[in-house]
Amino acid sequence: IWADSADPADFFWAHRGLSGSYPENTIPSLSAAYESGAKWIETDVDICDDGTLLICHDSTLDRTTNVSGRAVDLVAEDLAHVDAGGWFSPKFVGTPLPSLDEVVALVNETGGNLNLELKPTEAGARAAHSLVSGVLDELEAIEDPSRVLISSFSPLLLATLHQAAPQYPIACLFEQATLGPDWLTVCELVGASAIHPELAGLTREMVQEFKAAGLQVHVWTVNDLATANKLRNWGVDAVFTDFADRFIAAWAN
Ligand code: G3P
Ligand code: MG
Repeated sequence: IWADSADPADFFWAHRGLSGSYPENTIPSLSAAYESGAKWIETDVDICDDGTLLICHDSTLDRTTNVSGRAVDLVAEDLAHVDAGGWFSPKFVGTPLPSLDEVVALVNETGGNLNLELKPTEAGARAAHSLVSGVLDELEAIEDPSRVLISSFSPLLLATLHQAAPQYPIACLFEQATLGPDWLTVCELVGASAIHPELAGLTREMVQEFKAAGLQVHVWTVNDLATANKLRNWGVDAVFTDFADRFIAAWAN
């Protein structure tokens, strides 16, 4: 059913790891994604009050752990004994919150690629600088910067990172609501080589415009195979999915 011979391992990016089958953004989820053959995993990083980096999608721990609290109010010791797996299934009780250091170690062990999404911190511009410098310190352990793609909904964070470390490829994330006529200016200002648009509302014409601007196009979040196939036919380069394992296997059969 596929339009071309693209490698499914390149096309299906594991959104928060294999988050359809594992607790999102944990080492088991990220590690299983690489094991299933995915070449790219996506994970989210935020910053706590004391500068500790936090691998978590939401601005609070409430949904995905056994504790509550906003990232901006937490410090390292609050994270030490957090259970980030039991909310998903009793099978995963006791799964710790990963550190970025552990995620980077996994990337190096597997030889995989990492899309690190910088979450717009609620603590403001000063914390934004700390987030960027903390992330850059950790990423130094990955020898080849082209194995990392930094993305964010925040042009401020992306511009800060690009200024400090232009060797890292950058992607601009857009919700349809924020995808205004200035998308190309935003991409150019932050040095982006890729655009990550939301699936809802995306059209073939928009994809054509992104491609004509020379950008890689990676669409989030695509959890059915027919839609993925349609996007591939439109010229999309990759999609984020919670089911990278199933989709890569389905392509192979
Ligand atoms: O980075 C792709 C996608 O993860 C962006 O949205 O809310 O899932 O982080 P979100
Ligand atoms: Mg994300």
